[in-house]
Formats: sequence, C-alpha cells, structure tokens
Amino acid sequence: MSHSAHGAIPVISATGLFTPTDTISNAELVASFNAYADRYNAAHPDAEPLTHSSVEFVEKASGIKSRHVMDKTAILDPDIMEPRYAERPNDEISLMAEIGVAACRDALAKAGRDIADVDAVLCAASNMQRAYPAMAVEIQHELGMQRGFAFDMNVACSSATFGIQTAADYIRSGNARSVLVVNPEITSGHLNWRDRDSHFIFGDVATAILVEAKDLAPAQHWEILGTRLKTQFSNNIRNNFGFLNRAHGNGPVDQSGPRNDKLFVQEGRKVFKEVVPMVGQMILEHAESLGLSGSDLRRLWLHQANTGMNRLIAQKVLGHEAVEDESPTVLDTYANTSSAGSIIAFHKHNQDLKAGDLGLICSFGAGYSAGSVFVRKVG
Ligand code: COA
Repeated sequence: MSHSAHGAIPVISATGLFTPTDTISNAELVASFNAYADRYNAAHPDAEPLTHSSVEFVEKASGIKSRHVMDKTAILDPDIMEPRYAERPNDEISLMAEIGVAACRDALAKAGRDIADVDAVLCAASNMQRAYPAMAVEIQHELGMQRGFAFDMNVACSSATFGIQTAADYIRSGNARSVLVVNPEITSGHLNWRDRDSHFIFGDVATAILVEAKDLAPAQHWEILGTRLKTQFSNNIRNNFGFLNRAHGNGPVDQSGPRNDKLFVQEGRKVFKEVVPMVGQMILEHAESLGLSGSDLRRLWLHQANTGMNRLIAQKVLGHEAVEDESPTVLDTYANTSSAGSIIAFHKHNQDLKAGDLGLICSFGAGYSAGSVFVRKVG
C-alpha cells in the first residue's frame, strides 16, 4: 500500500469493546472481603483488627455497583484474594493480547476495515503483561498484519487519549493512514483485593479505537478537531512493581506489615481534590483554543473513576449540572477500567448523536496525566 507523503485529517472510524463474562457485584465483593477480615482477625488476636467493608460505602463513594473480571474464583476466595491467571506457554497467545485482539476485531468489523489497510498498532494501557516482545507486536501478528509497526505505551489511566493523539499525529504527518489504538486493561492484576480503601475500584476490559485518515474512513465517523495532553508529577497514585524489585515481588499481602506498594496505592482524597481543577481548566483552555465553549458540546465521555469527580468536571465544562445524557457513566457496571473507561462510555453512547454534534473524550489519572480529544460527528 502506498502512503501519501503529506498528512490528512485524522478521524475515529470505529471503536471496539471486549467485556469479560465474569462479574463481581458489590455484595459478593464485600462478603468475600469481610470473610477475609474475620479470618485475619481470628488468626491475629493481638494485631489491629481489620474493619469490614460495606456495599453502601462503595456505591456512595464511587458510583460502582459491579465490575467485570477475567476470572472471579480466586479473587473472591477469602484465602487467596488475588487473581490466579494461569501462565501460558510462549507458543500460546498471552491473555492481554487475546482480549486486545478481540476489541480490535470488533472495531475493524464496525468500520468494515480490511486488516491489510492498517499501518500500525499502539497498545496503550496501564500495565503490560511483560516487558517484551511488545504486546502490540503480538497483537499485530495475531491480527494477521503482514507489514507496518507496533509498540506499547503506558500513560496509566490516560493511555487511550495519549494513544489517540499519537495515532492522529501519524495521520497528520502522513506517516500512517490507519492506526489501531488498543487498551487491554486487566486491572484485577494490580489491585490489592485485601485493601479496604481500594478493593472496590477496578474492573477488567479491553477497548480499541481505529484512527484513520478522513479519506480512507467509512462515511460515518468522528472527525478529530483537536487533541491535547498534559502531565504533572504526583505520588498520589502509584504502582512500584517493576523489574528491579522482583525479589520483593507480588506475593501475598500481610495487612499487619507495610502496605504493599507493588500493587496499586493512592491517596484518593488528594487525587480527587487536585485532579478535578487541573482537568476542568485543561478542557476549557483546549476548547477555547479551538474556538469552542462548553455549551457547544453535546456530550462528554469522561474518564470513569468516580461519579463525584465527573459531576464536578462536567459542571465546570458545561456550566450546569450534567444529566446522564450529557455525561454518561459506565462506572456502575464496569467500575474504573483505567484507560479504557472513557472509550467504553464513547463506544456505548455515541450512536444517537447527529451529524455535526460535538463531543469530548477526556481521561485523567496517575502521573498525573490527562488528555482531551474533541470530536465532531460526520455522516
Ligand atoms: N467500606 C466502608 N467504609 C470505608 C471503606 C470501605 N470499603 N473504605 C473507606 N471507608 C471509610 C473510611 O474508613 C473513612 O471512614 P472515617 O471517615 O470514619 O475515617 C471513610 O470511609 C472515608 O474514607 P475515604 O478513603 O476518605 O473515602 P472517600 O470519600 O475519599 O472515597 C474514593 C474514596 C477512593 C472513592 C475517593 O477518594 C475517590 O474517588 N478519589 C479519586 C480516586 C481516583 O479517581 N483515582 C484514580 C485512580 S486511576
């Protein structure tokens, strides 16, 4: 395939979604946590007792009612409390690549795109299953791409929007005409299921976004009007797992010891307080630079971490309290799926918009990192 030497207007041709079949309701989650806490307290009569979790707290504090995971059995076993995803031999597709491929196939089918036309795969997610070969290269291979390139990128919860801007830049510069951005998020692997403060937060999923040159795209698509990225260092959301600390690994967490910072840890209150104004300001400045104001936006597809954060950000952007139709949530059934959250919201809630309608995909999270993508429906 010949590439145009000059750039084109980038658009979103289609999105794809893979949703695991296993679900964990708040009631199931809390029952297992409380059984674990009771067993722990019985076994450690002299230690500071662990307090029960509660369904009411989880729903009120986060808006989450349920989450999907790749396999709930070991997670809910009070004696295990972590996922036990079997290691696969090297000649079998890895778990992250498998769900990434499923999301990509969904996006390709929705766009009616032949894989032979795709130039690149960016696997953009919060955690990678291994260092190399890149998950993206495995996905490229599994999709049957005979040419092109692929690589992994990690910007935590903002991985998808950073991926969209990267893909859009390839298209703007003429380096590619069709790019798959894929976000396999197996967040159950980094979550500390024994930590009362955060055990309810995350769920597993994979999303894909097909970013293409406008002249290649199907008649109905979303034109990308502008993208903007921002990072600002913060220790308030951290995961210290890495190849230099393998000896301290990922083993069972002892609640009487230090918090296991090789898993996800956060200062939730500080995150809430600092990220809401940062993101609100970023969106308004970006809108202004495009000659837009909040009232021009028909819908916001915001990062899905917490209903309270989204309510405040949407209010700042739109100038009034947003109704579900203006700022849809998928937190109730998916929980926080890291970088995939705003893409699930977009995927599930864009069909009803009309040609010419404007919207915003926006993510924010660890780093801190934030990304905004303004889009207009065409066709
Ligand atoms: N069950 C019952 N009670 C719980 C609980 C649980 N699972 N976890 C905490 N609590 C209690 C605490 O003990 C505390 O009680 P106290 O006031 O008597 O001390 C109270 O609830 C408030 O705890 P806190 O952790 O301050 O809750 P919060 O209102 O800040 O809500 C978050 C927690 C995480 C939902 C919220 O801070 C948040 O969403 N922050 C942003 C997180 C985010 O977006 N992160 C990005 C990740 S990518």
